[in-house]
Amino acid sequence: MMLSPLWRLLCAALLIVACDAQLGMDASQTRVIGGHTSAAPPYFAGLHKLGDTSPFCGGSLISPRHVLTAAHCVTRTDGPLAIWPGVGDLHDIPEEIAVTGVRVHPRYNARAIQHDLAVLTLAHDVSRSDFKPIALADAQLTPPKLQILGFGNLSRDDHIYPDTLQSAEIALVPYSKCQSVGGPYSYTIEEQICAGDLKHGERDSCDGDSGGPLIRKGKPDVLFGIVSWGVDCGRAGQPGVYTRVSSYREWIEAQMDIWSQLDLSEKVQMLFYFPLYEIQASQGSQPIIRRFTAAYQHWQESPSDPRYSTVKLWQQSFAGEVFTLELLSSGAQSYRLRLHYSGKVYEVPAPYTELTLRESKDLGADAESLFEG
Ligand code: ARG
Repeated sequence: MMLSPLWRLLCAALLIVACDAQLGMDASQTRVIGGHTSAAPPYFAGLHKLGDTSPFCGGSLISPRHVLTAAHCVTRTDGPLAIWPGVGDLHDIPEEIAVTGVRVHPRYNARAIQHDLAVLTLAHDVSRSDFKPIALADAQLTPPKLQILGFGNLSRDDHIYPDTLQSAEIALVPYSKCQSVGGPYSYTIEEQICAGDLKHGERDSCDGDSGGPLIRKGKPDVLFGIVSWGVDCGRAGQPGVYTRVSSYREWIEAQMDIWSQLDLSEKVQMLFYFPLYEIQASQGSQPIIRRFTAAYQHWQESPSDPRYSTVKLWQQSFAGEVFTLELLSSGAQSYRLRLHYSGKVYEVPAPYTELTLRESKDLGADAESLFEG
């Protein structure tokens, strides 16, 4: 296991908690509805299931490592997710980066579709040389003309999806007007922006555009909203509803602190680097000390296997997250590690390095030095 400089730094900063003390753990003819093919800005992210050839949602890169999207994009989907940074043409897909962390806004309400936002952490930084994250709007004053971007449905009556990124200009719909549309629109809150073409319904976002950016075009572009919902698409009198980014700046920025920039593997390494050992009952006079390391790279949800039983559990919590690593054994010197995190169970892939030490040393601050590998 490499102890990267970042890791060392974090370890130093978090010594007590993590590293030390626990030694003992839209017209519908065209497109978006009424849009046109647009050059993809580098901050546009196509959110898809790892291995898929088209995105199901959009997103915006707000740092080289973070994508802002809609909560409903990530809460209804399972399986590993990934993004394409700056994707403009599905026949010419840029680099794919896996999503390793998902933070859904704690007040996300799936029924009313409110507080519909999530911050995704990527496996590594975007490497495009033209990359620039989009700036988050910080004023409540929303410009009267905004732009949407996405690979969503082009048709209000059919399912027609483009191969190229679409964009359209839409108009801000004042909050009071939006609420007076009635129906679900009467539940819109100040933390939402309504926008579209109230009069004709010619331009709108649609299914598949969710999570994507609502921007003010400029130098630079500024992110005002996140595509969230609407009743149908591109109908007069029925605007689109967007999550108002400026209302959540603080929360969004907090998700980009140093801890949240770590992917799941890095977090696990940090929290469990030392704790992963067990001292077995003595054999003879010498206790057997084992330390388990594993390639924490690819996280796969896993069902349980009844042939294995729990040998040991290690639990660590940090920054409001609880991680439990479970060591399982089939009895025949065959071990597996599973991680319980955020309500899911992941198989920690082998190979494990199982180190057995037959030394009865006191595991003090020097525990690391007892083991190699
Ligand atoms: N919920 C849709 C999605 O998941 C976005 C719908 C936007 N609808 C609208 N009429 N603006 O992609």
